[in-house]
Amino acid sequence: MDTKKIIKDANSILEQIEYHNNLYYNLDAPKISDAEYDKLLSNLKNLVSENSVILKNIDLINKVGGVASAQFTKFTHPSRMLSLDNAMNFEDLENFEKKVKNFLGNKHSNLEYSIEPKIDGLSLNLIYEKGELKEGVTRGSGEVGEVVTENISTIKEIPKKLKIKNPPDMIEIRGEVFITRDDFYILNKDSDTKFANPRNAAAGSLRQLDSSVTKTRPLKFLAHGFGLYNQNISKTYYNTMLEFSSWGIPISPKLQIAKSIKEMSIIHDEIFKNRNDIPYDIDGLVYKIDDLELQKRLSFVGKSPRWAIAHKFAAETAVTEIEKIDIQVGRTGALTPVARLKTINVGGVLVSNATLHNFDEIAKKDIREGDKVLIERAGDVIPYIIEVIINKDKKRKSHFKAPINCPVCNADVIKEKGEVVLRCSGDLDCNAQKSERLKHFVSRTGLDIDGLGEKQIELFHQTGLIKSFSDIIRIEEKKDKIVKLEGWGELSFSNMVKSINSKKNIFLSKLLYSLGIRHVGEKNAKLIARNFKSLKIFIESIAVSEKYLLIDKLNNIDGLGPKAVNSFVNYISIKVNYNEILELLNICDVSLEIIKVQVTKISNKSLLFTGSFQSMSRAEAKAIAERMGAKVVSSITKSTDMLIYGDKPGSKLNKAIELGVQVFTETEWLEFTKEL
Ligand code: IVH
Repeated sequence: MDTKKIIKDANSILEQIEYHNNLYYNLDAPKISDAEYDKLLSNLKNLVSENSVILKNIDLINKVGGVASAQFTKFTHPSRMLSLDNAMNFEDLENFEKKVKNFLGNKHSNLEYSIEPKIDGLSLNLIYEKGELKEGVTRGSGEVGEVVTENISTIKEIPKKLKIKNPPDMIEIRGEVFITRDDFYILNKDSDTKFANPRNAAAGSLRQLDSSVTKTRPLKFLAHGFGLYNQNISKTYYNTMLEFSSWGIPISPKLQIAKSIKEMSIIHDEIFKNRNDIPYDIDGLVYKIDDLELQKRLSFVGKSPRWAIAHKFAAETAVTEIEKIDIQVGRTGALTPVARLKTINVGGVLVSNATLHNFDEIAKKDIREGDKVLIERAGDVIPYIIEVIINKDKKRKSHFKAPINCPVCNADVIKEKGEVVLRCSGDLDCNAQKSERLKHFVSRTGLDIDGLGEKQIELFHQTGLIKSFSDIIRIEEKKDKIVKLEGWGELSFSNMVKSINSKKNIFLSKLLYSLGIRHVGEKNAKLIARNFKSLKIFIESIAVSEKYLLIDKLNNIDGLGPKAVNSFVNYISIKVNYNEILELLNICDVSLEIIKVQVTKISNKSLLFTGSFQSMSRAEAKAIAERMGAKVVSSITKSTDMLIYGDKPGSKLNKAIELGVQVFTETEWLEFTKEL
């Protein structure tokens, strides 16, 4: 082989490794399995060892050092690590504050906020017991992270022992691990390590298998919050952070208080203007309601707290060219156009695809193949096209036409009333939909099966080895055929089987979510699943003969909309789907989630809230009742146990009285719950 080709090959593998590092570490969205990643690494290692003279500049340990193949110990965070909702402008901030006030029952006109820059790094959970650092854990899924205690022991800013006389028995202190811009340039210049940006470098360094490598990396840490702790510290976030600082924990030098969103916005613009004075990358500000009692009341919805929001800085833009417009078919049949771009560096990240959202968007912006376009990338969000840059002297290709047939199965494309999305009507006959559903089933948010990624599913599906979800669970039966496929062997196969078997023990809600039914996301799957007292009842309820009873039952679930109900019922009414669910229940170890709620006098009672409340919003009243174990319903029937009414209760109150349901005014209810 000639020298040029060897260098070219090595660089090409390196590029792929960087690309997948970024997906894995920064975007939390790997596209290949660990096995495939390991294959890339071993290819590179072989190439380097066979051509050590030519490739002497590739320092394998620093470059990739077995990073992704490192198996870190998993750790369940004592309390979940949440993420943040984003505000892009003043209007979003107004909406955020409006929601907060509404939730608190419009009793708080003078809210105060703590402000800190949003550091573009990785979050870390530090667990201190009796003042001693016990573990350092990455965020991971938010519920379960990876233990990196050994690695962070080399970060000078993180104290091993808190400077406090009577430390809490346990406290989770959270913050961001990052690298300053200067350190990043030095790191990239001095070693052969070429990271795309400081965040990428911090990620690659923190999740190193070899902590002696982490030691050489200039990682820094700043605290930005806390999880569980069992000792009163302060009534406000701001003062808690100052207290942390006195314990030796580094906090943001920019931490400050604002008394209105106007003030917040001024501080935002000021910091944005001078952001280069801050030595590390920040991508916005984070505002948090300062009063911890209010934070507790506001709690969280989905994965984000109601009491905090990130105000992002304006995005980075660049100009490039659309090489091609592809159409992707999703698991629910949605057709999404994607622009394949001439690769370009946008604010430190290589971009080669941009989402086009839908066909209306293409028509509105008159986007065509071959066009020069202005693209924008904000943080981790997939880049999108702002506008076409017209060059009058250049002839453009013809208008891009929305498809009338599915590009994969050729079925008619349909557009539902009130929707912008075009859909393939092929459903289970469409190979793309089928394979996307299978991918979703094993994906990170689904059953989360290691070693079985999109690529493998695609291959197994195409070769007819896997046709259904249950085929995946029963993959052992296909051993003879799979071990013969390229890239597969006894070992990789048995690892895959192990990881599938380790995920067979699941909650019903997870199973329902993993099926990928339209409108049945994680939240709705949980709402549906927790309405069945046993699996036997669930199985009986989804039988076709029970359809109307099931519809009634689902319609009465507070928070579950009619679209989700229809979609779920339609799904299970199809015989293949119904049989498949039964089969999965048969071959997996499915259980009902035990929701951690207090056991009180209202546990399992069905409650209905109606009218408007004085001391809090109806949403908060419901959230409190649910925490006390009650089931909140939306319509009144004989089986409703209690109705709590505020102002203007409407017809539900009369109906409740008619049916002999126990009724409470807001004050009576507050008195009653005090005693629970
Ligand atoms: S507060 C529930 N404060 O941004 C509160 N997060 O997009 C969540 N981050 O996972 C964290 N700087 O890793 C908070 N000053 C700051 C932050 C910050 C950076 C990161 C953090 C979080 C992510 C959410």
